[in-house]
Amino acid sequence: MTDSIEISDLTKQFEKITAVNDVSLDVQRGEVFGFLGPNAAGKSTTVKIAATLLEPTKGTISVEGYDVLEAPVDVRSVTGLLPEDGANTHYDRLSAYKNLEYFGRLYDVPEEKLQDRIERLLEFLELSDRRDDSPATFSTGLKQKLSLARSMIHNPRVVFLDEPTSSLDPIMSKRVRDFIDEQAEVGKQTFFLCTHLLSEVEDLCDRVGFISRGVLVEVGRPKDLRRKFWTVRTYEVQLADADLSKGREIISSTGLVEAARVEKERVVFEVEEAETKNPQIIRALMESDQLIVEFRERVPDLEDVYLKVIGGN
Ligand SMILES: Nc1ncnc2c1ncn2[C@@H]1O[C@H](COP(=O)(O)OP(=O)(O)O)[C@@H](O)[C@H]1O
Ligand SMILES: [Mg+2]
Repeated sequence: MTDSIEISDLTKQFEKITAVNDVSLDVQRGEVFGFLGPNAAGKSTTVKIAATLLEPTKGTISVEGYDVLEAPVDVRSVTGLLPEDGANTHYDRLSAYKNLEYFGRLYDVPEEKLQDRIERLLEFLELSDRRDDSPATFSTGLKQKLSLARSMIHNPRVVFLDEPTSSLDPIMSKRVRDFIDEQAEVGKQTFFLCTHLLSEVEDLCDRVGFISRGVLVEVGRPKDLRRKFWTVRTYEVQLADADLSKGREIISSTGLVEAARVEKERVVFEVEEAETKNPQIIRALMESDQLIVEFRERVPDLEDVYLKVIGGN
C-alpha cells in the first residue's frame, strides 16, 4: 500500500520549547490514524506543519507524495484541515451555506458537484435547518460542525482533524466518527485525527500513535498496544459449583497465577503469558471436576494503556 502521509525526522523548535522532537511516522492511504497525547504534546504543531501553516525546524512531511516545503500548493490541494480553533474561522457575514460555497469555489470544486456536496454535508451534520443563518449565531458545537463540513468540501484525499469532537455532544461525536469511518472505507480517504480522548480512537482508528512532550512514544494497533503494555492479564471464570473458594484454591495451587480471588460470583485471576498458562489452568479445573460455565478476559481499555505509556515517559 502507498503511504499517504510520511513524517520524517520532524522537529519543531519554538525558541526554548521543542514542540515536536524527531518524529517519524507513516500513515497509509485509507487509514484512520489517531494521534493521541495530553495537552502541549505537539499534536497541533505537527498538523500545522502538515497543512503548510508552519515550517519545520528539521525534517519534513510529505502528503500524497508532495513535500510540504517543496510543493505546498499541491499539499493544500489534496488535504483538508479542521484546525484546533476550527470553531472560529468562518465568515460571519455569509450564511452557513454561503461559507461552504465560498470555500468550495476557492478549491475549484465544479459547480454541479458543489451544491450536491454542500447539501450532503449539511444534512449529515444536521445543519440543514440552519443553512441560511450566519455562523455568528451558532453555538460552538454548530460552528465546529460547519468547520468539519468545510474541511471536507473539496473531497480531499487526506484529512487532518485537530480535536474534531471537542465541542460536540456524545451523539454527534458518534455520528462524526461513523462518518469518518465510512469516508475512509468507501472513499479511501486518509484521516489523521488529533485527540486527547481515548474513547475517540479506540474503535475508530486503525492505528494510534502516542505523543508526549514532542516525542512519539508508541505506535500500533489499539489491540496490539493493549497486549504489549498489558503483560499481566486478568481473566474471570464462572463455575457451576456454588463454592467458588474451591475453584480459587485450585487455580492458586497451580502456581501459575500472580493472584486469584473470588469476585461477584466469579473467580478472578491474573496471569502472565496467558496463552501457555491458561490451558493448564483450565485442565486443572476440569481434572478437579469443576464445570466451567464461562471463561473470559477482562480487557483493559486503551486509557489504562495510555496512562501507563505516557506516565512512564
Ligand atoms: N507559536 C508558538 N510559539 C511558541 N510556542 C508554541 C507555539 N505553538 C505551540 N507552542 C508550544 O509547543 C508545545 C506543543 O504545542 P501543541 O502542538 O499545540 O500541543 P497539543 O496540540 O498537543 O496540545 C506547547 O508547549 C506549546 O506551548
Ligand atoms: Mg492541540
